[in-house]
Amino acid sequence: MSSPVSGQSDSPARDPRHWDDVALQRALDRAGDGSWGPVAVLPSTGSTNADAMDQVREGAPEGFTVVADEQTQGRGRLDRTWASPYGAGIAMSVVLRPLVPDAVWGWIPLIAGIAVVDALAEQGVAAALKWPNDVVIDGDARDGSAGPRKLGGLLVERVGPAVVVGIGLNVDLTADELPVARATSTRLEGADVSREALVVDVLDHLRRRYLHWQLASGDARRSGTVEAYAERCVTLGRGVRALLPGGAVVEGEASTVDDDGRLVLRLADGSTRVVSAGDVEHLR
Ligand code: BTN
Repeated sequence: MSSPVSGQSDSPARDPRHWDDVALQRALDRAGDGSWGPVAVLPSTGSTNADAMDQVREGAPEGFTVVADEQTQGRGRLDRTWASPYGAGIAMSVVLRPLVPDAVWGWIPLIAGIAVVDALAEQGVAAALKWPNDVVIDGDARDGSAGPRKLGGLLVERVGPAVVVGIGLNVDLTADELPVARATSTRLEGADVSREALVVDVLDHLRRRYLHWQLASGDARRSGTVEAYAERCVTLGRGVRALLPGGAVVEGEASTVDDDGRLVLRLADGSTRVVSAGDVEHLR
């Protein structure tokens, strides 16, 4: 569902890089079904994940969300950092309190990735997922090296009985604002995306996908989540180099994701290797 965010505010002198809080709140009110928590909109913060985790400890409900115009100490996967310059990207974190057994919570980052790709599609951006949950545009990097180009990423962190789904997306970042040539933004991909509309669409898709999965008791196969993920994952069918925790490296063809969301590699000697954590690089 496309979200009706006007992009207009009551103030004629609005800073175009500041959240249009009024439009965002109105759109969230219209889009929401009342079952998810409120959204806190911040001009600047260290990390929206850290903020949301603090709020979990204070009892924040399912769906409570923090979004920020700027994030100064953004956390990435595998102990990396995440840059989110003022007014140019989306830095948001959503609190979930899953009711399904925690043995299947590993699907939550992948479900969030599916939701982000579908939200971007609403905004006319043909994004995909690089396993496990890099949000990418397929194709070479801006400097001609092997892609795909990274548009965003997800960091899901557990806090007791809850998880915080952190989502970072590059929207209006210029080439100079991007940390590496492998990165891109919706603006650089030629799309004029409203950050407010994208936030609303991400929340809408995330809520639906997550509820659907929970209604199937967290069964990724029965809820159609495995299939939905595979349809959006450009890693499948590619030659990849997997960089495993601890430093080991494995090369093979990414053949499928299994029912636990792990990447199944077919190696040159015909054997199979299942990768549950780490990072992959696509080979040409
Ligand atoms: C990655 O390494 O690809 C994941 C990046 C996740 C960044 C987001 S931005 C919002 C949220 N707050 C954080 O500190 N990190 C996540």
